[in-house]
Amino acid sequence: MAWKSELTRILQDSQSQTSRLRFDEPISKHVHFGIGGNAAAYFEISAVSELAAVANLKKRLHVPVSIIGRGSNLLVSDSGYPGIVIRLIGAFDRLEFEGDRVWVGAGVSQPRLSKIAGRKGLSGVEFALGIPGSVGGALIMNAGAWGSCFGDSVELVQVMTDEGTLIELNHDEAKFGYRHSGLEEYFCVTGARLQLTPGDVKAITNRTNELYKRKIATQPFAEENAGCMFKNPPDDSAGRLIDECGLKGYRIGGAEVSKIHGNFILNIDHATVEDILNLVRHIQKTVKREKGIELEMEVKLLGF
Ligand code: EPU
Repeated sequence: MAWKSELTRILQDSQSQTSRLRFDEPISKHVHFGIGGNAAAYFEISAVSELAAVANLKKRLHVPVSIIGRGSNLLVSDSGYPGIVIRLIGAFDRLEFEGDRVWVGAGVSQPRLSKIAGRKGLSGVEFALGIPGSVGGALIMNAGAWGSCFGDSVELVQVMTDEGTLIELNHDEAKFGYRHSGLEEYFCVTGARLQLTPGDVKAITNRTNELYKRKIATQPFAEENAGCMFKNPPDDSAGRLIDECGLKGYRIGGAEVSKIHGNFILNIDHATVEDILNLVRHIQKTVKREKGIELEMEVKLLGF
């Protein structure tokens, strides 16, 4: 395929020391569920010029491209992904503080951002210590917990267009909603500037640790999972509805509804993608029948 040799050339031309390109890569190694087929290409990109070249490749040759962040909110098909899967590193993994603002690259992990902001006496991302995804994913999904969400502290978001140009969007242009934003229409989210609130280091780190403790007391963390499987219906909790339907502990093949929190599906014993999807359908059917409510998946599907 022509795009594969072009991809190899993009890497050679950039002479990056840290970017890595592999063909036929098992995506299961890069997603929290630990399952799914191979990506035709897997590219860890460390430079803006490489990312722009891939945007150009996508536009010209119509190769599917997907940025997977840290793979914490993804279910990948058994048949894999026929295009290029990207993970952002290097230039996209930077944190730069200036007063009470921070520039954060899309590849930075949320726990890292949360910890460092706390140590610098900056409040606003305490909730993010327990969310394992990347900042890019958190911006797109407007990730959140304990009454806060990522979009709350965003001043501007930097995205790359389909033409490979970097542009900045202000808070309103990013269109943050519940577990949703308008950022998915761009080729890629590359970073954001957050406006945080100065405060006492000890008080902020205490709150961060407190929220983390609350998370591990109420949500599973040992088994492979992709966070909450379903979005909460308006003014309700998907986990509570699933619990009330008696589905905690319900198992199909190697996939099980968490006994701790109903909105988590765990890969407890070599679950297949089909096991997980069958469990998703069973939960949706049961909650619809018992409660009259349709649950919408929060976890993203790739390669289906
Ligand atoms: N509940 C049950 N049984 C369950 C789960 C929950 O009765 O199995 C009850 C709880 O006791 C509580 C209520 O339902 O009274 C709400 O539960 P919780 O506080 O756990 O919040 P949630 O609505 O289930 C949301 C987010 C989580 C986030 C928590 C904490 C969504 C889909 N979920 O869960 O985010 O961590 O609040 O703020 O918005 C995620 O998005 O991936 C995620 C895990």
